Amino acid sequence: MAVFDFALELAFVEIDTTRLGAWKSLAEEVLGLATESVDADGRAALLLRADRARYRVVVREADVDRIVRIVYRVGDQAELDRLTRRFEELSIPHGRGSGWPLPTGRPSEAYVDVTDPAGNDLRFTWAVPEESDSALPSSGITYSDHRLGALGHVVLIVPDLVESVTFYTEVLGFRISDYIGDGPGRLAFLRCNERHHTVAFQAGSTPRVDHLMLEVDDIDDLGCVYDKARALPATVLSEPGRHTNDLAISFYLKTPLEGLEIEFATGGIDVTEPWSVNWHEGGSIWGHKRP
Ligand SMILES: [Fe+2]
Repeated sequence: MAVFDFALELAFVEIDTTRLGAWKSLAEEVLGLATESVDADGRAALLLRADRARYRVVVREADVDRIVRIVYRVGDQAELDRLTRRFEELSIPHGRGSGWPLPTGRPSEAYVDVTDPAGNDLRFTWAVPEESDSALPSSGITYSDHRLGALGHVVLIVPDLVESVTFYTEVLGFRISDYIGDGPGRLAFLRCNERHHTVAFQAGSTPRVDHLMLEVDDIDDLGCVYDKARALPATVLSEPGRHTNDLAISFYLKTPLEGLEIEFATGGIDVTEPWSVNWHEGGSIWGHKRP
């Protein structure tokens, strides 16, 4: 029996920004991501590439700064249809569509959109991300060659932890990997494939995307990015540290979107099924101290 209801992968994140130049500097000068400028429906956009996918983050010029949506890849059209049927059966509002102002390189661009209980717009599609056959320009930073790419997870601040966990497990077929902490500050970590977690939730009164995780395989790449980030004022938000649950070594840095951080990580574990849900008292074995 399949472990997961759907073969989901975190594909990319779309962000609207008033500070495209700041995103370009962060991507190129600190993170060592390849950038590609494109026109997206008359607006300037920047595709940020870390691995074989043409983009993992899309940043588009706008009047506001916000996360537009989190995009998941499903296996194929049949699976997209099956997911859509589940939304129908459970009377969950959703919208089907096709065609979007981003390069996909595929003839079919069908997707289904749904809003999660915390208000995050999610899109499911099998058409993206297009794999790029052009070699990555050498930035000195090599991102993870994990099967699922170098964008590891998103962490969401949600008003009701149980409601979000229930939606992601019972509707989208995620499974709980573990919890950190107890009481109001508790975090829940969920997986939808072999990666330890693709989404995590922390309860908080103002819902938002707390961070995106980008992954490298070599700790020296993490160290180099840490040094570059430290050379800039107010960019590094935490010292390096190792997490208790996925065992990733990481640090956190600021992005041009207020409230959104990037966790820059290496060494996060994959899960071997069957997996039993764990509970950790704290989030870090060492480090991650915030000034
Ligand atoms: Fe994280």
